[in-house]
Amino acid sequence: MAVIPVDVAGRPYEVRVGTGLLAELVRECRGMLRKREVPIITDSNVHAAWGETIEAVLRTNGHEPQWRILPPGEQTKSWEELSKTVDWLLAREVERGDHILALGGGVIGDLTGFAAAIVKRGCHFIQLPTTLLAQVDSSVGGKTAINTPAGKNLVGAFHQPSLVLADLAALDTLPRRELLAGYAEVVKYGLIGDAGFFAWCDENGQNVIAGDAGKREYAVSQSVAAKARIVAEDERETTGTRALLNLGHTFGHALEAETGYSADLLHGEAVAIGMVLAARYSARKGLMPMASADHIATHFSDVGMRSGLAELNLSCSGKALVGHMLHDKKMDAGTLPFVLMKGIGAAYLDRDVSLDDVAAFLDQELAR
Ligand code: NAD
Ligand code: GLY
Repeated sequence: MAVIPVDVAGRPYEVRVGTGLLAELVRECRGMLRKREVPIITDSNVHAAWGETIEAVLRTNGHEPQWRILPPGEQTKSWEELSKTVDWLLAREVERGDHILALGGGVIGDLTGFAAAIVKRGCHFIQLPTTLLAQVDSSVGGKTAINTPAGKNLVGAFHQPSLVLADLAALDTLPRRELLAGYAEVVKYGLIGDAGFFAWCDENGQNVIAGDAGKREYAVSQSVAAKARIVAEDERETTGTRALLNLGHTFGHALEAETGYSADLLHGEAVAIGMVLAARYSARKGLMPMASADHIATHFSDVGMRSGLAELNLSCSGKALVGHMLHDKKMDAGTLPFVLMKGIGAAYLDRDVSLDDVAAFLDQELAR
């Protein structure tokens, strides 16, 4: 098992990465479950796959699981589900010192974390991430949120978990497409700041996806360690360091918006294409060789992911895609910062990108 500390000021916590952590949940929580009743929020897919394991370990250790099983999918991150979840927690008389368990992917983690942030002005929660995306990204760092009609993740809070248990066994029941979408976020850490890790992904990505336990532990723990370093440096995304985690996301969000946030394009799939676009745009600006951008695209294609904008068969213009970007929550005094690259492993925040130029670039990419 790998143990990665997240050194946020005032409330450091650990991310543990290993196989079988859910089956050892009570031991791993080390006294955090202080009452007989344990509130657990999950979705129906995760409950079907992991409910019995959690039920068994809690009951064997004298606890009574209190399940809140939500519908799977992005629509669960809503005011309505948040409000019902808060009422449910209050009805169970959850106290500030109690720990609420979030068992699931980023949807469950974000919703539960936000509920924990606001119930009684903040109670504890433990992240039990069951998707690759949640293990390497959303469960770490304390961003919590719901969606509103105005856009995704526009209402939320920074609220750090007390502990994250990333059980690699959970990935065995995850649909392959979800696994690949999460893999894009693993590659992201190499592209942001660690060319050696990208080279490792090039060498070992197929094995990570195929289920090699050792490679999975390395991929997840290296990703978490990279995220932990960034979060410790810039917890609230004020200095620009944490913004680097948005590599590929500005392009990706535009693609998600254009495809209606539908099942046609998962978030991680949009991020993969978005990172290729960020790299190709960086190359167009002369910041890095186009061959490096093509290398990134080939890597995603080789593991079975779409990697080019033209593969989405969109019928919109570059200007329309840029239009979606203008609703991005990263807009800052009328400008939109972009994460660009000076090479693989050398991402930086560029606050001086011309949106007309981006639109022209996207027109070319749509026509490739
Ligand atoms: P998700 O939570 O919707 O899970 C994907 C699907 O996999 C769902 O259908 C779920 O039921 C199913 N599933 C989850 N674990 C499973 C398992 N072990 N076995 C079988 N099925 C399983 O999606 P996600 O990709 O994990 O998260 C996406 C969300 O994360 C988005 O809402 C995004 O905004 C958010 N996010 C947040 C942060 C952050 O820092 N807070 C970062 C990145 C993404
Ligand atoms: N996923 C982006 C962040 O945590 O900042």
